[in-house]
Amino acid sequence: MKTIITGDRPTGRLHLGHYFGSVKNRVDLQYDYDTYILIADVQALTDNFEAPEKVRKNIYELALDYLAAGIDPKHSHIYIQSMIPEIAELTIYYSNLVSVARLYRNPTTKNEVNQKQELFGEKGEGITYGFLGYPVSQAADITGLDGDLVPVGEDQLPHIEQTREIVRKFNHIYGETFKEPEAYLSTTPRIKGLDGNDKMSKSLGNAIYLADSEEEITKKVMSAVTDPQKIKKDDPANPDICMVYYYHKLINNNVDTICAECKAGSRGCVACKRELVKALCDYLAPIQERRHYYEEHMDEVEAILKDGTKAARKRAMEVMKRVREHMKLDYFENNSNE
Ligand code: TRP
Repeated sequence: MKTIITGDRPTGRLHLGHYFGSVKNRVDLQYDYDTYILIADVQALTDNFEAPEKVRKNIYELALDYLAAGIDPKHSHIYIQSMIPEIAELTIYYSNLVSVARLYRNPTTKNEVNQKQELFGEKGEGITYGFLGYPVSQAADITGLDGDLVPVGEDQLPHIEQTREIVRKFNHIYGETFKEPEAYLSTTPRIKGLDGNDKMSKSLGNAIYLADSEEEITKKVMSAVTDPQKIKKDDPANPDICMVYYYHKLINNNVDTICAECKAGSRGCVACKRELVKALCDYLAPIQERRHYYEEHMDEVEAILKDGTKAARKRAMEVMKRVREHMKLDYFENNSNE
């Protein structure tokens, strides 16, 4: 069985962009792959080092969202990155194999630095060693557990490419040790915001969260961008430039009828939005039901994280034994200093 390694930073709740961009894929694939899903708290600290409480709190939020979304602990291991010291060790070995210039060229990191001027300076001149290097640590996340497949959103592709480069270099120098992992994109790798923005994201304030209430969803959907040419309720409009239609399509709600009625001018935007609110709430209902269950059973969540972390650690220890041998770092017999 091939292995999936993937995860998210615990910096907030999951929204529909995460869900359709990659979490849904993980749910669908978990039955056919050995699945490890990491809560990347070490990576989250690279730009939240001053907010350890926030990271800690969001570890549980993320675990709840995963379980709510349908990650099944019988089929997937959910684990905490900082509890696997082997990943940190491998990150250090990998850091010799990547030039600083190459890290500066990573478009995703660049983008993030631009969004974080308060933290890293107007031109990114204050970028830390840790943040610049987080793709190296991500390479260790993936290969440190012998990952084959990495279901992620589109923004993560540069990191997977960087991982593959590191693997090639490592194998070339120390002998065949790792496989090159592959990214797995969803058919909707990037979800637009209701405001028409190219990307749904927490920082853009245009996200619908998996845990949003009907009231929150209503507020967001009612302000969604529609065809600006449509002034009156019975003007015909172009659904292809309407964000409400875009979301009807995303959850596959009554698409043909809505499209036809919109074009014919027999569907008002307000009614169409109300219908979307209802459809979204219905879509999210089973997810929110599972979330409520686990919120009431946090001891189970804790146990799931503990078991998942134990399984991941076991695997990482096996991989690191191989790495140390290949790197001539296997000093004492049994690798023990006792
Ligand atoms: N960089 C990812 C994000 O921003 C999180 C992540 C950390 C990850 N390690 C990973 C994703 C390994 C896939 C595989 O959400």
